[in-house]
Amino acid sequence: MQSTKQCLAASILDTIGDTPLVALDRLSRGLNGRVLAKIEFFNPGFSIKDRIALQIIEDAERGGLLKPGGRVVELTSGNTGTGLALVCAVKGYRFIAVMSEGNSRERARMMRALGAEVVLVPQVGGSRPGQVSGEDLAEVDRVTSQLAKKLKAFRADQFNNLSNARAHELTTGQEIWEQTGGKVDAFVSTLGTGGTFAGVTAALKKRNPRIKCYAVEPAGAAYLAKGKVTDPNHKIQGTGYAMPLPLVKREWVDGLVTVTDREAIRTARLLAKKEGIFAGFSSGANVAVALRLARRAKHGAVIVTTINDSGLKYLSTDLFPER
Ligand SMILES: Cc1ncc(COP(=O)(O)O)c(C=O)c1O
Repeated sequence: MQSTKQCLAASILDTIGDTPLVALDRLSRGLNGRVLAKIEFFNPGFSIKDRIALQIIEDAERGGLLKPGGRVVELTSGNTGTGLALVCAVKGYRFIAVMSEGNSRERARMMRALGAEVVLVPQVGGSRPGQVSGEDLAEVDRVTSQLAKKLKAFRADQFNNLSNARAHELTTGQEIWEQTGGKVDAFVSTLGTGGTFAGVTAALKKRNPRIKCYAVEPAGAAYLAKGKVTDPNHKIQGTGYAMPLPLVKREWVDGLVTVTDREAIRTARLLAKKEGIFAGFSSGANVAVALRLARRAKHGAVIVTTINDSGLKYLSTDLFPER
């Protein structure tokens, strides 16, 4: 991705990617390792998912799967949908986002503002508002398939589409390598589709197989680590669906780590207070685990993670209370 800072961008799509890498030196003070974070809310849809939206749509165009004036359908926890909505707005495609009612309300409003149609799917019995489970997602998936068939639309299919991981291999991972000058010891990422983990891991391990890559799961939904789910209702939106992830190669997972809602929330609040970084639940989860690794790392180790989206996307939740 070319830097757009010095030149005129032909559209907002040219500003996707090329995000800053920031040292979290206030939070990692006194620890052995140093934690660096890629600030993905600098993307125009305020999340890491703009990268995959652009790659998926442009790969579909190149592959002849999407023609001018075509329709796009996708299930989303909100961030991929926002990315697809803005890509489709610029390129003139009709976009229909299918989302669980359990995701935060500001996401649906943002997608509608960007011209998308939003289909909200009620949560299944037993699910708690704000806590989207694997069962909720399965229901959203069923509705998405039906709709794509009915509308003869292109389905982005982020859980299976290789363009998802490719976006992160070609951009996020490549940028991390360049921004650190190759001095990375570990990478940490939560898993939603696993696209971020898969793509960044591919980029880094191909350049230096000794880099350790850690995948993060919610404590109650440690599906890959333990194969069992004790509580699918966690708060780390966009991650932890407790289902197989076709994009993730198990041999590239050096460690599976769990994180509690409490730890993710506490760290997201500390990120805001100590680093001036206003981010969401999954960013808190990523940084919580990165700090844990930094504590027991060898002196001077560099641990990289991502700040996936903005705290503004969670103002209707209890992440940042009103008072
Ligand atoms: C807030 C947030 N964090 C993390 C993720 C997980 O990213 P990935 O799907 O690349 O695993 C998502 C995915 O939608 C997300 O919305």
